[in-house]
Amino acid sequence: KEQKLLNIFGKTYLADDFTNISPSIAERTSRRLLHEPANPLSIIKKLIESNFPADEYTVYDPPEPAVSVYENFDSLNFTPDHPGRSKSDSYYLNSDTIMRTHTSAHQGHCFRTIPTPGFLISADVYRRDEIDRTHYPVFHQMEGARAWNRDDFASEADLIAKINSDTLKIPSPGLQILDSDKQFDKSENPKQPGMSPELCIALSNHLKRTLEMVVGGIFSSIREMDPASANKDQVQIRWINAYFPFTAPSWEMEVYWDGDWLELFGSGVTEAPVFDMAQVPNHVGWAFGLGLERLAMLLFGIPDIRLFWSTDERFLGQFSEGKINRFQKFSKYPSAHRDIAFWLKDGSAPEDFHDNDFMDIVRDHAADLVEDVKLIDKFTHPKSGRHSLCYRVVYQSMERTLQSDEINALQETIRSEVAQKFGVQLR
Ligand code: PHE
Repeated sequence: KEQKLLNIFGKTYLADDFTNISPSIAERTSRRLLHEPANPLSIIKKLIESNFPADEYTVYDPPEPAVSVYENFDSLNFTPDHPGRSKSDSYYLNSDTIMRTHTSAHQGHCFRTIPTPGFLISADVYRRDEIDRTHYPVFHQMEGARAWNRDDFASEADLIAKINSDTLKIPSPGLQILDSDKQFDKSENPKQPGMSPELCIALSNHLKRTLEMVVGGIFSSIREMDPASANKDQVQIRWINAYFPFTAPSWEMEVYWDGDWLELFGSGVTEAPVFDMAQVPNHVGWAFGLGLERLAMLLFGIPDIRLFWSTDERFLGQFSEGKINRFQKFSKYPSAHRDIAFWLKDGSAPEDFHDNDFMDIVRDHAADLVEDVKLIDKFTHPKSGRHSLCYRVVYQSMERTLQSDEINALQETIRSEVAQKFGVQLR
């Protein structure tokens, strides 16, 4: 049987029965949106990172998107028959290697190698998913985690005291927090069997206060950058019970935005076997994961997830490093312009002709098919003293490519309408 080789991100893999990655997905790996400093995803990533003290949290940039199936699933306590492993949900290079489905795949490596107590991992992740405005097979996550080593403390009471004092140092967020005292729950959201309730609560509090601090920090930056677009009311958040194979108890944090509760973070207290498999036994801690597209869509007002991949200057040119601004819609169809020049009536001055009167005529006759109208020229005839104006009308549809016959007809209507209404002489 002939052996098929795959090349992903500079490495060669031997294809087998599991292989299901398609060329169009493999091709996405080379774009690296998080390395484009003015891409909205990078801007959000940097903004979140800036809320974490750099001496406690190391920023880690994973070198490649392919990971072992062990890293993606086994090291995180996914059972061998867990449905998340299904070929129908993920892109496999072969039976041992997968395009990471979440940034959690790098937790083990980071717990083992990063010297600071915490770390932040951001990367592209890959899932075979439905197609709609908010789903795309490649998206971006940020992972965060924090650990304490039991061996650094003489007793569990000392460990708990340290976690609590670390929690008190976290800046307060200025949010309205609902249901924040929901701790573990025997039936719905159990703590880990080997962990005391006091330790579980101390870790949960550190986790929740940290994520609240991040959300508070994000919204206060937004208020500073753009006071008009920011929510005037206090931002509301709430904690919802959740389940992940590698954390217990687990929560999702939701924020209230535009009349809806929106899930922002998945999070929880890291399960002891995750530390064991990372070869740092005797540690305790927490982890969270965040979808960067979702937050960027909300903060920049970006309506469609595919736009993040745009190479169009009309998209990329709207953003700059360190800045959050509202996205302005543009059409993906070509534009075409037509100019209209005319002499004003004898004795009338250019000031007597108002832009808005011209705009109204354009609006009445071409409404949504015009993208822009500008006065581009104004001059006075040296002998006759008559004044001439020239407007440029840029035609463009949000839905289709306009044909020139259609544009010419619209332009003709506007011309005769202007002549009739204002008694000007067309040139
Ligand atoms: N990896 C999880 C996901 O993609 C999110 C998560 C990360 C949950 C860390 C808990 C802790 O849904």
